[in-house]
Amino acid sequence: MKKMSRRRARTIRVRTPTVRYPVWVGAGLLRESGRRLLRLRPRCRRLYVVSSPRVWSLWGTELAEGLRAAGIRLEALLMDDREGKKRIALVERLASELLARGADRGAILAALGGGVVGDVTGFLAATYMRGVPYLQIPTTLVGQVDSALGGKTGVNLPAGKNLLGTFHHPVAVLVDLRTLASLPAREYQAGLYEVVKYAVIGDPVLFGFLEGKMASVLARDTAALEKIVSRSIRLKAQIVGRDEKEENVRRILNFGHTVGHALETLSGYQGLRHGEAVGWGMIAATHLAQRRGKLSVVAARRILRLVRAVGRLPRLPRLSVQRIYEQLFADKKKHGAQLRFVLPRRVGQVEIVSGIPRSDVLASLRQLDGVLPAR
Ligand SMILES: NC(=O)c1ccc[n+]([C@@H]2O[C@H](COP(=O)([O-])OP(=O)(O)OC[C@H]3O[C@@H](n4cnc5c(N)ncnc54)[C@H](O)[C@@H]3O)[C@@H](O)[C@H]2O)c1
Ligand SMILES: [Zn+2]
Repeated sequence: MKKMSRRRARTIRVRTPTVRYPVWVGAGLLRESGRRLLRLRPRCRRLYVVSSPRVWSLWGTELAEGLRAAGIRLEALLMDDREGKKRIALVERLASELLARGADRGAILAALGGGVVGDVTGFLAATYMRGVPYLQIPTTLVGQVDSALGGKTGVNLPAGKNLLGTFHHPVAVLVDLRTLASLPAREYQAGLYEVVKYAVIGDPVLFGFLEGKMASVLARDTAALEKIVSRSIRLKAQIVGRDEKEENVRRILNFGHTVGHALETLSGYQGLRHGEAVGWGMIAATHLAQRRGKLSVVAARRILRLVRAVGRLPRLPRLSVQRIYEQLFADKKKHGAQLRFVLPRRVGQVEIVSGIPRSDVLASLRQLDGVLPAR
């Protein structure tokens, strides 16, 4: 990553009917964490920070210094952040630890890490002593552009992901772009698929930027990071502000996720990162939109090219199109909803469509490399 220039941080505001909070975006913000937190909670003297050993070893000291500079003491609680550990037992363990350390109803928590740490900490904050405030300090690209804002928190059940959870918004989100420097390439790229998603669903300017500057984006150039992260956050903040509980417009955030989820489940969450599954899902949805005559050939090509420009998507497990189709229906049942697709109309605009004929869906799935043709 290039040397950081002293740039001012950006503030993006999330405003829903029930809450409002700032999202601070900039390079080096961990060092300003204490000063910023005091603006919101002037009496804060101690922050309970949940993190993973890895993230803590990389960025914990910097956060602790940023807090200490403002007279705030940090208490670290470490957790294993593998997806398989994102379970209620972990929440119970962390809650007991909070209690043992004297955290009362006035305690403030923070999540320093990726989406797993963020979801667990959010759920812990939502339920500890019937709810305490918390700060999101996301350190993965997925965390920064997606999971840290919106207020969805939760843990997995043996039967599936995120089946136990609640909405609980953070008091603020602090995004230090520098933390992305230590992220493994694959994690970073997986997050980029979510950025491409935002560009397709609602930001043609971001789309053009990604097309023109993919090399800088992949090199994690600070200016490029600032652009893609803040534009993604702005769009998610707007959408969440209009539809806090995912009843309506928020569904467009699921572009690429219908097929993506099915592929994730079928691969047993192994071998495919969530973002990569979304990459495949966006390819399928784009073919589907084109097949239905709702997307121009030129726009479809641009979208497919941009998804491919992020990198080589890992091979899909050998699956038949029928198997994927069946899984789409199984997911639909689990969520008690209709099988809906978010389909692009043009770059920067999508529509939600249900009742698509099976033959069209199968044909679009056949476009995925590695998928086995129908018997
Ligand atoms: N709440 C929501 O709205 C929402 C949205 C999207 C995803 N999620 C959830 O987020 C989780 C996925 O999150 P994720 O993609 O951030 O992955 P993750 O939390 O699994 O983190 C990925 C890996 O990167 C490591 N890591 C994190 N930050 C690092 C850094 N700066 N440097 C080096 N390594 C670092 C982690 O230790 C981990 O090994 C899933 O559980 C998903 O369900 C929630
Ligand atoms: Zn996603």
